Amino acid sequence: MSDHLHIQNIHKDFSGLKVLTGVDFKVADKQRHAIIGPNGAGKTTLFNIISGKFKPSSGAILYKGEDISGKPPHLLNRRGLSRSFQISNLFQELTVFENVLTGVRSRHRMRCNFFKRPNSDCTLCAATEAILENVGLINEKDKPASSLSYGKQRALEIAITLSTEPELILLDEPTAGMTREETELAIRMIDRLTKNHTLIIIEHDMDVVFSLAHIISVLHYGTILVSDTPDKIRNDQRVKDAYLGEG
Ligand SMILES: Nc1ncnc2c1ncn2[C@@H]1O[C@H](COP(=O)(O)OP(=O)(O)OP(=O)(O)O)[C@@H](O)[C@H]1O
Ligand SMILES: [Mg+2]
Repeated sequence: MSDHLHIQNIHKDFSGLKVLTGVDFKVADKQRHAIIGPNGAGKTTLFNIISGKFKPSSGAILYKGEDISGKPPHLLNRRGLSRSFQISNLFQELTVFENVLTGVRSRHRMRCNFFKRPNSDCTLCAATEAILENVGLINEKDKPASSLSYGKQRALEIAITLSTEPELILLDEPTAGMTREETELAIRMIDRLTKNHTLIIIEHDMDVVFSLAHIISVLHYGTILVSDTPDKIRNDQRVKDAYLGEG
């Protein structure tokens, strides 16, 4: 398997606060890679660097062999990288359909009037509806995003992340705040929808991590403590001590 992403010795400080101190790992093409680690370990900061929101203090991000560190998010999005946010990033007043349509449209870079209600002739409607069907939100398509339950709003975020047909998907705690039932649905959905993609997922929910990940990296005090298969991680004494605990 070739590498899709190579995180190369990334350092990041914020006004002297050293958050990442030499993060280094590779993500193979079509691999699902989970990043776990305690609160404040720097997981979201790493996503902000991969997705172009922040520049690293030093180090490089190689995307399909090319150094993309410091490139702006919209450019990376066009190159096939799409991320979801830990904190909700929906257009609350738009409908579920319109939220996903914005992503589909950005992919197709069609000149459609954003504020005009999309009609059934719109060529992007079918693509939007297919995504909504896939994430189980088709019956909610005309409701404003704000009216959805929290779990469904998170599912909508995942739908939007997928709407640009990305090659590399970054999901930052996609199941945070979901009920057990919603989390199980989300696991099945992420499993189904990311089969042919490279996925990096930040998660605190170990059911999600162990159900989905091929490889797990443990971020601890700014560096990767270990990157390995779920079985090895489960039994790694350093990981138990640092994060998982004996439970
Ligand atoms: N823009 C910023 N400016 C200053 N400090 C920041 C900034 N972003 C993150 N930090 C600090 O970096 C550290 C790591 O934060 P980060 O959000 O990356 O952690 P995390 O691993 O995602 O935590 P959580 O599991 O709680 O989401 C924290 O101490 C945080 O306060
Ligand atoms: Mg975070």
